[in-house]
Formats: sequence, structure tokens, C-alpha cells
Amino acid sequence: MSNELSLVDPLAYAKGFPHERFARLRDEDPVSHQDHPRWERGFYAITRHEDVQRVSRDTTFKNSPHPFLEEAADEESSGMSELLISFDAPEHSKLRRLISSGFTPRRVNDLGEKIRTRVDGIIDDLAEQGSCDLVNDLAVWLPLHVIADLVGVPEEDRKQIFEWTEVTFGFDPNVDQAARSEAAMAMYAYADAMCQERQDEPRDDLMSVLLHAEVDGEQLTQLQVDLFFLLLQNAGSETTRNLITTGTMALLQEPDQLELVTSDLSRLPVAIEELLRWVTPVMQFVRHASEDTEVAGQAIAAGDRVALFYPSANRDERAFAGADRLDVTREQNDHVAFGAGGPHYCLGANLARLEGREMFEAILTRFEGLELAADPDELPRVHSNLIDGFTEVPIRWDRVRERVDA
Ligand code: HEM
Repeated sequence: MSNELSLVDPLAYAKGFPHERFARLRDEDPVSHQDHPRWERGFYAITRHEDVQRVSRDTTFKNSPHPFLEEAADEESSGMSELLISFDAPEHSKLRRLISSGFTPRRVNDLGEKIRTRVDGIIDDLAEQGSCDLVNDLAVWLPLHVIADLVGVPEEDRKQIFEWTEVTFGFDPNVDQAARSEAAMAMYAYADAMCQERQDEPRDDLMSVLLHAEVDGEQLTQLQVDLFFLLLQNAGSETTRNLITTGTMALLQEPDQLELVTSDLSRLPVAIEELLRWVTPVMQFVRHASEDTEVAGQAIAAGDRVALFYPSANRDERAFAGADRLDVTREQNDHVAFGAGGPHYCLGANLARLEGREMFEAILTRFEGLELAADPDELPRVHSNLIDGFTEVPIRWDRVRERVDA
């Protein structure tokens, strides 16, 4: 036990989630105390589904000053505590209402047709190659363009925004803090300029909605709009990219499951929920106890931190029959990949589902003879304790079909 890597160390996830370790914790010590390199009192790892749900919904547990299990030293200067996800009620509810007004089902559905066209464009561009990198040639592009479409970034600026996003949030250990801050500042300046243009002439995009939305007579500040712009790039892109990559890999490794979905595409929505459970792109978020309390019999003192381990909750046998089996026909699926239903439940969940549906449908129906071109156990993963994913996944295929519309 003692020579296991700390759950804070990204290397603990270098070969995927430590599922056996999580299973042992769920059975023997479901709210276990863990050390942290900078937090004197360490934190408690919450590993059971039931407890992740309870803490997510219990307002005794707060997100502020921020919910990140970070190792970084300069938390104060990083702006982390100004992000939507770092606020608690009542400020959080107000901010979220303002932002949600730009995330209506209508706005998300309007993106549907655009998403389909974008998916087809991405695949058409690769068709002749016969092989590519699933992460960097295919999965990366759709989420980036969807966020850019939603926010209103013009096509000609996207390459630059995508580069800044990678530097700011990419999990490349070789990019230093100064380079990350510089790219983040460049994004703020860009967001400022976008706002300037929309101040007098609102357009039909999220940035204009955010600038002009009002709740209880209050508007978002310029800083809040900028930070939300930044948060969206990260929250909406790395996560969905990973669902597409790791989800495709899971299906390619389980031909019977692949066949079940391919032979009946009406199974896709249910299958996507199962892939979300299976992949669980976000590893954890932290909460702080605002008063003395307990979780599953473990005393938690005011000021203690707890981390909600979503991949563990999503493999909890107490909540999912045959939890260690991928079952694309699983109807009862109360997974916590988007959070467990509390006030911070993922704002982009429906958009991510829509992207997943279009992308998986195209991958399953357009590629003929699609297969992995490397041993999945040997492929490199991102260096992170927050978002799981691969940095490259070679794939190959025999032929790409034209889209056949139903
Ligand atoms: C498969 C893709 C995605 C996954 C797995 C995911 C997962 C999550 C999780 C676990 C949370 C925290 C929930 C909690 O604390 O209770 C969250 C929050 C959030 N997500 Fe997502 N997300 C995804 C895609 C997206 C997309 C596409 C967007 C935006 C376009 C987005 C925007 C947000 C925002 C703004 C929050 C903070 C909400 C708040 O604090 O009120 N996410 N997401």
C-alpha cells in the first residue's frame, strides 16, 4: 500500500485509471485519507457512487476557493478562484443563470447541423490517407470548432485560438508556467477585443449573449466574460476529445459491442451513456467542508477537503451490475461522468452528447475496416490528474464511405 503513487501524482494515471486500487478503496476504505504535497491536512478520497452523489448535492461542501487538486504553487495568481466552477451559491447560481441563458436547448440544437457538416469535413479530409492519428487528426477538431462556433470566433482566427488553448491547458510537462500564462493573457486580450466589437453590435453568438445578459439587474464583468471564454475552451474540448478517442478505442477492442451499435444505430444514445461511464473523461473535483460533518461514517472537519473520484464511482458494483463490463445496451445507467447532479453539473452535457452522437455515428458508418494500429497498452497518455486521455492513437482503415443519410 505504502509504495503506491499518490493519487495527486499524474503518474498514478499514466497507464489509465488504477481500477483495482479504486475497487479496494471502495470495499475497505471508501472515504480514505490521502496526503497532498502542499495541503497540510491532506484530503479524503471519495470512491463510492452513493457518496460521490451525496457530496455533490450537499451544500455543506463548497467549491470555493477552487475545486482543483492542483500541484501548482501559485494558485492565488492563476485566476482559478474566479472561474464559474469555483463559486458557491448565491454568486454561483446568479452567474450560472446568466451563462445558461446562452446555453439554451435551442442554441445547442441549432449547432446540430453544423456539427454534422464539420464531422463529415474532418473525415473527408482524411479519407485518402488510409491511416491517421485518432487524437490529433480526428478527435481534437470537432470540440474545438464547436466551442468556436458557439462563442463566435471567426474561422480565420481559430488556428491561433487552438494553439493558445493547447499551451494554456495542454498537459505537456515541457511547457513551463510562463508560457502558459502568456498564452492565457493572449486569450484574455482576444476575448476583450471580441467583446469590444459586440458591445455596440450584438451578434447571434454566445459572447454577445454573455455581454448583454442580465440577472437581477446585474451583468457579467469583463473579467468574468474573459474567464468564461477561457474555461469553455478547456471544459469543452479536452473532455469531449477524450470521449471520442477512448470511446472509439473501447469499441474497437470489443467487436461484439461494436457490432451491437453498428447494426442498430438507434442504440447510439444508450451506447454513448455507457461510453461516458466507461471512459469518464474527468477524473475528480475537490470540495471543502464548510462545517463539521461526516461521509459514510468518516468524520470530516470544517475546512477539510474531499475529492470526488468519478472513475471509481462509475465502476462501483453497488450502483452498476457488471460494472467492469462494457455493455452498450445498459439502460439503467446513472453514471457521474458529467458530475452527480449538484449545482455544478456539467453545463455542456447536452452539447457533448450531441457531438458524441454525430462523431460516433460517422466513425461507425463511414470507415470500412477501421482498426487500431498500435498496442493500446503501450500508447502514451496525457500528464494530468484532472482529465484522462491519450496523446496519440494510430489507426488505419481500408476505405472511407460517402455519408448515407437516413
Ligand atoms: C464528455 C465531455 C464532458 C465531460 C465528461 C464533462 C464533465 C464535467 C464535470 C465532471 C463537471 C463538474 C460537475 C460537478 O462539479 O458537479 C463539469 C462542469 C462544467 N462543464 Fe463539462 N464536461 C464535458 C463537456 C463540456 C462541454 C462541451 C462544455 C461546454 C461547451 C462544458 C462546460 C462545463 C462548464 C461550464 C462546467 C462548470 C459548471 C458550473 O460550475 O456550474 N463541459 N463538466
